[in-house]
Amino acid sequence: MSFSTSPSPVIGVFDSGLGGLTVVKALACRAPGIPLVYFGDTARFPYGTKSAETIVRYSKENTAFLLKQGAEIIVVACNTASAVALNHLQAAFSVPVYGVIDPAAQKAVEMTKTGRIGVIGTRRTIKSKSYTKAIIGLLPEAQVTAVACPLLVSLIEEGCPSQEAQRLLLREYLRPMKRDCIDTLLLGCTHYPLMEEMIQEEMGADVSIVDPAKTCAALIAPTIPAEKGAASDYRFFASDDASRFKAIGEAFLGMKMGKVLTVSV
Ligand code: DGL
Repeated sequence: MSFSTSPSPVIGVFDSGLGGLTVVKALACRAPGIPLVYFGDTARFPYGTKSAETIVRYSKENTAFLLKQGAEIIVVACNTASAVALNHLQAAFSVPVYGVIDPAAQKAVEMTKTGRIGVIGTRRTIKSKSYTKAIIGLLPEAQVTAVACPLLVSLIEEGCPSQEAQRLLLREYLRPMKRDCIDTLLLGCTHYPLMEEMIQEEMGADVSIVDPAKTCAALIAPTIPAEKGAASDYRFFASDDASRFKAIGEAFLGMKMGKVLTVSV
Protein backbone atom coordinates (compact mmCIF):
# COMPACT_ATOMS: atom_id res chain seq x y z
CA MET A 1 0.00 0.00 0.00
CA SER A 2 1.33 3.48 -0.76
CA PHE A 3 0.19 7.08 -0.71
CA SER A 4 1.73 7.82 -4.11
CA THR A 5 -0.98 10.14 -5.49
CA SER A 6 -1.07 12.73 -2.69
CA PRO A 7 0.98 15.94 -2.87
CA SER A 8 0.80 16.25 0.93
CA PRO A 9 3.45 14.71 3.18
CA VAL A 10 2.31 11.53 4.93
CA ILE A 11 1.72 12.07 8.65
CA GLY A 12 2.67 9.18 10.93
CA VAL A 13 0.93 9.19 14.30
CA PHE A 14 1.59 6.79 17.16
CA ASP A 15 0.18 6.23 20.61
CA SER A 16 0.33 3.54 23.27
CA GLY A 17 -3.11 2.44 22.07
CA LEU A 18 -6.39 3.92 20.95
CA GLY A 19 -6.20 7.23 22.79
CA GLY A 20 -4.12 8.92 20.09
CA LEU A 21 -7.12 8.74 17.77
CA THR A 22 -8.09 12.01 19.48
CA VAL A 23 -5.22 13.58 17.52
CA VAL A 24 -6.38 11.90 14.29
CA LYS A 25 -9.89 13.24 14.87
CA ALA A 26 -8.57 16.74 15.50
CA LEU A 27 -6.30 16.57 12.43
CA ALA A 28 -9.14 15.22 10.26
CA CYS A 29 -11.19 18.21 11.36
CA ARG A 30 -8.51 20.82 10.67
CA ALA A 31 -6.72 19.29 7.69
CA PRO A 32 -9.05 16.88 5.87
CA GLY A 33 -7.45 15.09 2.96
CA ILE A 34 -3.98 14.63 4.45
CA PRO A 35 -2.63 11.10 4.14
CA LEU A 36 -2.08 9.55 7.54
CA VAL A 37 -0.77 6.32 8.99
CA TYR A 38 -1.53 5.47 12.63
CA PHE A 39 0.09 2.93 14.89
CA GLY A 40 -1.52 1.99 18.22
CA ASP A 41 0.83 -0.02 20.42
CA THR A 42 -2.00 -1.98 22.02
CA ALA A 43 0.27 -4.96 22.82
CA ARG A 44 2.50 -2.86 25.08
CA PHE A 45 -0.19 -0.54 26.47
CA PRO A 46 -0.10 1.23 28.91
CA TYR A 47 3.02 3.39 28.71
CA GLY A 48 2.21 5.52 31.75
CA THR A 49 3.38 2.86 34.20
CA LYS A 50 6.64 2.02 32.38
CA SER A 51 10.18 3.34 32.86
CA ALA A 52 11.47 6.20 30.72
CA GLU A 53 14.06 3.87 29.11
CA THR A 54 11.38 1.44 28.00
CA ILE A 55 9.15 4.20 26.61
CA VAL A 56 12.07 5.67 24.64
CA ARG A 57 12.80 2.23 23.15
CA TYR A 58 9.15 1.63 22.25
CA SER A 59 8.87 5.12 20.75
CA LYS A 60 11.91 4.62 18.54
CA GLU A 61 10.52 1.30 17.32
CA ASN A 62 7.12 2.85 16.62
CA THR A 63 8.72 5.72 14.70
CA ALA A 64 10.87 3.37 12.61
CA PHE A 65 7.72 1.38 11.79
CA LEU A 66 5.82 4.49 10.67
CA LEU A 67 8.75 5.63 8.51
CA LYS A 68 8.73 2.22 6.84
CA GLN A 69 5.06 2.81 6.05
CA GLY A 70 5.96 6.03 4.24
CA ALA A 71 5.50 8.62 7.01
CA GLU A 72 7.37 11.87 6.41
CA ILE A 73 6.31 13.72 9.55
CA ILE A 74 5.88 12.02 12.93
CA VAL A 75 3.33 13.06 15.53
CA VAL A 76 3.69 11.56 19.00
CA ALA A 77 0.06 11.58 20.11
CA CYS A 78 0.84 9.89 23.43
CA ASN A 79 1.46 12.36 26.26
CA THR A 80 3.68 9.91 28.13
CA ALA A 81 5.86 9.24 25.06
CA SER A 82 5.96 12.96 24.24
CA ALA A 83 7.01 13.70 27.83
CA VAL A 84 9.97 11.33 27.94
CA ALA A 85 10.92 10.37 24.37
CA LEU A 86 10.43 13.40 22.12
CA ASN A 87 14.04 14.71 22.38
CA HIS A 88 15.37 11.22 21.75
CA LEU A 89 13.24 10.83 18.64
CA GLN A 90 14.20 14.26 17.32
CA ALA A 91 17.87 13.37 17.80
CA ALA A 92 17.59 9.90 16.29
CA PHE A 93 15.45 10.59 13.19
CA SER A 94 15.88 13.16 10.43
CA VAL A 95 12.15 13.79 9.77
CA PRO A 96 10.19 16.43 11.77
CA VAL A 97 8.85 14.93 15.01
CA TYR A 98 6.10 16.75 16.92
CA GLY A 99 4.78 16.02 20.39
CA VAL A 100 1.77 17.20 22.34
CA ILE A 101 3.53 18.90 25.28
CA ASP A 102 4.67 22.27 23.89
CA PRO A 103 1.48 23.25 22.01
CA ALA A 104 -0.65 22.38 25.07
CA ALA A 105 1.65 24.29 27.43
CA GLN A 106 1.48 27.27 25.07
CA LYS A 107 -2.32 27.16 25.07
CA ALA A 108 -2.49 26.85 28.87
CA VAL A 109 -0.26 29.91 29.23
CA GLU A 110 -2.47 31.84 26.81
CA MET A 111 -5.65 30.84 28.68
CA THR A 112 -4.60 31.46 32.28
CA LYS A 113 -5.38 34.78 33.90
CA THR A 114 -3.96 34.01 37.33
CA GLY A 115 -0.93 31.92 36.32
CA ARG A 116 -2.25 29.00 38.40
CA ILE A 117 -2.28 26.06 36.03
CA GLY A 118 -3.16 22.44 36.78
CA VAL A 119 -1.81 19.42 34.90
CA ILE A 120 -3.10 15.87 35.17
CA GLY A 121 -1.42 12.90 33.51
CA THR A 122 -0.05 9.41 33.93
CA ARG A 123 2.53 8.72 36.62
CA ARG A 124 5.38 8.81 34.09
CA THR A 125 4.22 12.07 32.50
CA ILE A 126 3.93 13.83 35.85
CA LYS A 127 7.25 12.38 37.09
CA SER A 128 9.01 13.70 33.97
CA LYS A 129 7.89 17.28 34.85
CA SER A 130 7.80 17.95 31.09
CA TYR A 131 4.56 19.92 31.22
CA THR A 132 5.67 21.90 34.28
CA LYS A 133 9.00 22.80 32.66
CA ALA A 134 7.32 23.79 29.37
CA ILE A 135 4.82 26.02 31.20
CA ILE A 136 7.46 27.65 33.43
CA GLY A 137 9.66 28.15 30.35
CA LEU A 138 6.89 30.25 28.81
CA LEU A 139 5.60 31.89 31.98
CA PRO A 140 8.24 31.85 34.73
CA GLU A 141 5.84 33.15 37.39
CA ALA A 142 3.30 30.36 36.74
CA GLN A 143 2.33 28.12 39.65
CA VAL A 144 1.82 24.62 38.36
CA THR A 145 -0.08 21.95 40.29
CA ALA A 146 0.70 18.59 38.68
CA VAL A 147 -1.15 15.46 39.77
CA ALA A 148 -0.79 11.89 38.53
CA CYS A 149 -4.14 10.16 38.04
CA PRO A 150 -3.05 6.54 37.41
CA LEU A 151 -6.49 4.97 37.79
CA LEU A 152 -8.28 7.15 35.25
CA VAL A 153 -6.92 5.40 32.15
CA SER A 154 -8.17 1.95 33.18
CA LEU A 155 -11.46 3.44 34.34
CA ILE A 156 -11.99 4.94 30.88
CA GLU A 157 -10.67 1.84 29.05
CA GLU A 158 -12.71 -0.64 31.06
CA GLY A 159 -15.74 1.55 31.67
CA CYS A 160 -16.94 2.26 35.17
CA PRO A 161 -20.09 0.57 36.48
CA SER A 162 -21.08 3.64 38.45
CA GLN A 163 -20.92 7.32 37.51
CA GLU A 164 -20.85 8.12 41.21
CA ALA A 165 -17.71 6.00 41.77
CA GLN A 166 -16.08 7.70 38.81
CA ARG A 167 -16.97 11.12 40.16
CA LEU A 168 -15.64 10.30 43.65
CA LEU A 169 -12.28 9.20 42.25
CA LEU A 170 -12.06 12.24 40.02
CA ARG A 171 -12.93 14.51 42.94
CA GLU A 172 -10.10 12.99 44.96
CA TYR A 173 -7.59 13.51 42.13
CA LEU A 174 -8.76 17.07 41.51
CA ARG A 175 -8.71 18.11 45.19
CA PRO A 176 -5.21 19.71 44.94
CA MET A 177 -6.41 21.71 41.91
CA LYS A 178 -9.23 23.25 43.93
CA ARG A 179 -6.94 23.83 46.92
CA ASP A 180 -4.50 25.74 44.67
CA CYS A 181 -7.30 27.68 42.93
CA ILE A 182 -6.16 26.86 39.41
CA ASP A 183 -7.97 28.65 36.59
CA THR A 184 -6.70 26.41 33.76
CA LEU A 185 -6.49 22.62 33.69
CA LEU A 186 -4.41 20.78 31.11
CA LEU A 187 -5.63 17.24 30.40
CA GLY A 188 -2.18 15.66 29.90
CA CYS A 189 -3.25 12.20 28.78
CA THR A 190 -4.95 11.03 25.60
CA HIS A 191 -7.82 9.47 27.55
CA TYR A 192 -8.85 12.33 29.82
CA PRO A 193 -10.71 14.39 27.20
CA LEU A 194 -13.20 11.51 27.14
CA MET A 195 -14.12 12.57 30.70
CA GLU A 196 -13.99 16.27 29.91
CA GLU A 197 -17.62 16.93 30.75
CA MET A 198 -17.32 15.43 34.22
CA ILE A 199 -13.96 17.15 34.80
CA GLN A 200 -15.49 20.50 33.81
CA GLU A 201 -18.45 19.89 36.15
CA GLU A 202 -16.11 19.05 39.02
CA MET A 203 -13.83 22.06 38.45
CA GLY A 204 -16.61 24.51 37.65
CA ALA A 205 -17.36 26.54 34.54
CA ASP A 206 -14.73 29.19 35.34
CA VAL A 207 -11.84 26.79 34.86
CA SER A 208 -10.53 26.56 31.27
CA ILE A 209 -9.71 23.11 29.98
CA VAL A 210 -6.83 22.44 27.56
CA ASP A 211 -6.94 19.33 25.35
CA PRO A 212 -3.45 18.54 23.95
CA ALA A 213 -4.87 16.59 20.97
CA LYS A 214 -6.62 19.72 19.73
CA THR A 215 -3.72 22.11 20.39
CA CYS A 216 -1.25 19.75 18.68
CA ALA A 217 -3.50 19.44 15.61
CA ALA A 218 -3.99 23.22 15.54
CA LEU A 219 -0.22 23.71 15.44
CA ILE A 220 0.53 21.10 12.79
CA ALA A 221 -2.45 21.41 10.43
CA PRO A 222 -1.60 24.84 8.97
CA THR A 223 1.95 23.67 8.14
CA ILE A 224 0.74 20.78 5.96
CA PRO A 225 -0.05 21.54 2.34
CA ALA A 226 -3.34 19.64 2.01
CA GLU A 227 -4.96 18.97 -1.34
CA LYS A 228 -8.36 20.73 -1.40
CA GLY A 229 -11.27 18.31 -1.64
CA ALA A 230 -9.07 15.19 -1.46
CA ALA A 231 -10.61 12.18 0.23
CA SER A 232 -9.06 11.17 3.54
CA ASP A 233 -6.45 8.48 3.09
CA TYR A 234 -5.85 6.89 6.47
CA ARG A 235 -4.23 3.58 7.37
CA PHE A 236 -4.34 2.02 10.82
CA PHE A 237 -2.13 -0.55 12.50
CA ALA A 238 -2.20 -2.01 16.00
CA SER A 239 0.25 -4.32 17.75
CA ASP A 240 -2.53 -6.45 19.28
CA ASP A 241 -6.22 -7.17 18.84
CA ALA A 242 -6.84 -5.16 15.67
CA SER A 243 -10.54 -6.06 15.70
CA ARG A 244 -11.15 -4.43 19.10
CA PHE A 245 -9.08 -1.47 17.94
CA LYS A 246 -11.22 -1.16 14.82
CA ALA A 247 -14.55 -1.51 16.62
CA ILE A 248 -13.77 1.10 19.27
CA GLY A 249 -11.83 3.31 16.86
CA GLU A 250 -14.64 3.51 14.28
CA ALA A 251 -17.17 4.38 16.95
CA PHE A 252 -14.86 7.07 18.31
CA LEU A 253 -13.82 8.57 14.96
CA GLY A 254 -17.28 8.23 13.44
CA MET A 255 -15.80 6.84 10.23
CA LYS A 256 -14.81 3.53 8.67
CA MET A 257 -11.17 2.59 9.23
CA GLY A 258 -10.80 0.01 6.49
CA LYS A 259 -8.72 -3.01 7.37
CA VAL A 260 -6.72 -2.60 10.59
CA LEU A 261 -3.65 -4.81 10.49
CA THR A 262 -2.04 -6.39 13.53
CA VAL A 263 1.73 -5.92 13.32
CA SER A 264 4.72 -6.35 15.61
CA VAL A 265 7.34 -3.61 15.53
N1 DGL B 1 -1.57 7.45 25.72
C1 DGL B 1 -1.16 7.59 27.10
C2 DGL B 1 -0.88 9.06 27.41
O1 DGL B 1 -1.37 9.96 26.75
C3 DGL B 1 -2.21 7.10 28.07
C4 DGL B 1 -2.26 5.64 28.33
C5 DGL B 1 -0.96 4.98 28.72
O2 DGL B 1 -0.60 4.97 29.92
O3 DGL B 1 -0.34 4.45 27.83
O4 DGL B 1 -0.18 9.33 28.35
